[in-house]
Amino acid sequence: MPALPDVRILLTADEIHTRVAAMAAAIRHDIRGDLHLIAVLKGAFVFLADLARALGGPVSLDFLAVSSYADGATAPGQVRLLKDLDSPLEDRDVLIVEDIIDTGFTLTYLRGLLGVRRPRSLRTAALLNKPSRRRVPVPIDYIGFDIEDRFVVGYGLDWGERYRELPYIGVVDHVR
Ligand code: IMP
Ligand code: MG
Repeated sequence: MPALPDVRILLTADEIHTRVAAMAAAIRHDIRGDLHLIAVLKGAFVFLADLARALGGPVSLDFLAVSSYADGATAPGQVRLLKDLDSPLEDRDVLIVEDIIDTGFTLTYLRGLLGVRRPRSLRTAALLNKPSRRRVPVPIDYIGFDIEDRFVVGYGLDWGERYRELPYIGVVDHVR
């Protein structure tokens, strides 16, 4: 098996931890009561785990999965639902938890899909944002870090299903 490319650290575990705590405080400033967190699999699983614990107060969780053009399965802009939620959203304060917003196609699709299920409120928290890559404008309520147009891995994010377990966020050498 060929050696995996090296990863250069972009955001340390400490920097991420501090930022996630600040995001949790901002979210709790806006929504004090029951908060229904929806994580987009698989990339958001680490961020979800840290955010849910940092939030304090009552939270419930649900998961969905979408196919992304990054998997090579669909054309750019085409998003397909692979796994739907287990429970309804009606009258709940919903927070979409995403690892990274790139073109914006995925989040635009999700906001449309979930918005019609009559949640009381629908907000988004994204750990990472690549503003220079945006193809469709989409509102993001809480952003961890704006980053440049580099392919990043770790803290849930993968490159060909590798590196999700890294405690930091890094840039893979020779990839975009
Ligand atoms: P969007 O629909 O283009 O905004 O893409 C969002 C999805 O693409 C994310 O949820 C990730 O799964 C994936 N993605 C975009 N940029 C990166 C990256 O730099 N590293 C890993 N995955 C990425
Ligand atoms: Mg994702």
